[in-house]
Amino acid sequence: MGCHGEDGSGSDAFPRLNGQNPPYVVNQLMNFKTGGRTNDNKGLMQAVAKRMNEQEINAVAEYVTTLKEAE
Ligand code: HEM
Repeated sequence: MGCHGEDGSGSDAFPRLNGQNPPYVVNQLMNFKTGGRTNDNKGLMQAVAKRMNEQEINAVAEYVTTLKEAE
């Protein structure tokens, strides 16, 4: 929420996550975690993903897919 927004809608600096399909989210988080993806501004996302274990990554991937755009 701190970066991607309460409803996961993102902003001009942070991508939208709400409704994203879980396998894509898991793959991106694993890529950030392992250094396979390093295009994030100031390594912000790599720092977050490195602190997460696989169970947490799977949990938030399932969660963000349930988020809806705030009315
Ligand atoms: C558990 C919490 C988080 C999850 C699940 C998450 C998930 C993601 C995902 C899946 C992407 C890739 C989006 C795409 O390829 O469409 C992403 C990108 C990004 N996230 Fe997060 N994020 C989290 C927390 C944060 C936080 C706290 C920050 C800021 C400190 C952040 C900053 C970014 C940035 C800057 C990108 C864009 C990287 C780019 O330029 O492509 N995220 N995040």
